[in-house]
Amino acid sequence: MKIEQVAVIGGGAMGNGIAHVLAKYGVNVVLVEANADALARARTTIEKNLAREVAKGKLTSPEAEAALLRVTPAVDLAVTADCQLAIEAIPERVELKVPLFQRLDALLAPEAILASNTSSISITELAAATKRADRFIGMHFMNPVPVMKLVEVICGLATSEPTTAAVRELALRLEKTPVEVRDYPGFISNRVLLPMLNEAIFCVMEGVASPEAIDEIMKLGMAHPMGPLTLADFIGLDVCLNIMEVLHKGLGDDKYRPCPLLRQMVAAGRLGRKTGHGFYRY
Ligand code: NAI
Repeated sequence: MKIEQVAVIGGGAMGNGIAHVLAKYGVNVVLVEANADALARARTTIEKNLAREVAKGKLTSPEAEAALLRVTPAVDLAVTADCQLAIEAIPERVELKVPLFQRLDALLAPEAILASNTSSISITELAAATKRADRFIGMHFMNPVPVMKLVEVICGLATSEPTTAAVRELALRLEKTPVEVRDYPGFISNRVLLPMLNEAIFCVMEGVASPEAIDEIMKLGMAHPMGPLTLADFIGLDVCLNIMEVLHKGLGDDKYRPCPLLRQMVAAGRLGRKTGHGFYRY
């Protein structure tokens, strides 16, 4: 099945990037937000980011205009009925995602595919809440979506090969590199990345070195583009804590225990860039 019409649910940091990339590569998008204000913000962000690509010479003005025209903004989920794929990018809360997928399951044609951009919730669990677990998959885009090449494709226990193939083909059309993984806590990206960030936080707590020194070591010594504490601040310390909890609970191994300093900083409201204070001040 060739995917020509996609619903993106949630137009925040990830959803507007996903809609942007789909539209840029000729796919029609229905972008659904919770309310008109959020929808207007999402559309303005897409417009601004497309204009940035024009300024950099990556896109012509007519191409950017055509891309924007391919995005149909909506607040009513019913307009997604004709889509062959729905990509969910609403907040990382299972109690929000499950009812949304149940509504999409009832609205979309039986052959349509449902995908989640979740960073840590089990694809198998979300799929089991619908009647189409074989046509349910994880499409984990990276932030910022228009820039990052990876799509981590997560196959739940029941995900069928034709579903995976259709999503793989779409990712390639968007000039992304799909990499398939199985559905275990944190998938690969967060299971490998977050314990490293958590360990860097343990090093701060134990006074082994300052955040600046730790970041410098990982940048200069390991050629990481960004030190782990700068990256943790960028991701958000609450998000980091949540993912460590998912790894700890889901894999049942104490090697994934969240660092007490991480818990303390979240409790203090020092969440990183978004609150102006994390391991650094912004
Ligand atoms: P966000 O908070 O920036 O955006 C979520 C959007 O969903 C908001 O604009 C909100 O108004 C909207 N929304 C909430 N309920 C809705 C509903 N029922 N219908 C339509 N829209 C609704 O969140 P963000 O960062 O974009 O994350 C979305 C998902 O992507 C989460 O599952 C997150 O774990 C995942 N993710 C986030 C990454 C990041 O770096 N921010 C990276 C990879 C995945």
